[in-house]
Amino acid sequence: MSKKIGIIVGSLREHSFNRMIANTIPELADSVQYEFISIANLPLYNADLDHGEGPDPVKQYREAIQEADGILIVSPEYNSGIPGVLKNALDWASTPTKTAVLIHKPAGVIGATPGVKGTILSQQQIRQTLDATQSYVMPFQKMYISQVMDKIDANTHKLADETTRKYLGRYVQTFIQWIDQVQQLNE
Ligand SMILES: Cc1cc2nc3c(=O)[nH]c(=O)nc-3n(C[C@H](O)[C@H](O)[C@H](O)COP(=O)(O)O)c2cc1C
Repeated sequence: MSKKIGIIVGSLREHSFNRMIANTIPELADSVQYEFISIANLPLYNADLDHGEGPDPVKQYREAIQEADGILIVSPEYNSGIPGVLKNALDWASTPTKTAVLIHKPAGVIGATPGVKGTILSQQQIRQTLDATQSYVMPFQKMYISQVMDKIDANTHKLADETTRKYLGRYVQTFIQWIDQVQQLNE
């Protein structure tokens, strides 16, 4: 059976550029399955709600991560850092402490911005948070997409810039190999 990659988009905006980038991924690396994991209905993290399987949206979200062989995060940068909605989602996936679904989960980070710095600072914080969850963030490889509004096709709303498509495809292929490497680490 082919691998399944869960994709989490760190923007709730309807016309999110990061969602457009995420929507392009399946056509760039089609040897695996993809599932988009929504974070829109998660409550704000509150330890008082975090008992048993948690509230229904949390339960469904955790199950989706559990079933994925790896997680790709595609996120904007807000105020030089991680968007609050994404941090909230990662916190919900970081508990219960010993059985959290992110433990030993392969993870990759991608980000797009209309600005020129490609979400570097946001990705640093996302990596820091993922590290704390004991997930295995793919080392070294980075995927920063700057001036994204010039790289999207106005009709399809998918990534059109050929160079960026090539790099993104390569990033996802390398991530698929990373899933295999982590599986060996976990054995
Ligand atoms: C509150 C806020 C803070 C932002 N801060 C940054 C930032 O620090 N760096 C950056 O590159 N873009 C920043 N932006 C611009 C976002 O990159 C831009 O709105 C982007 O389109 C959001 O991603 P999305 O299209 O996937 O929703 C910020 C936007 C908002 C609303």
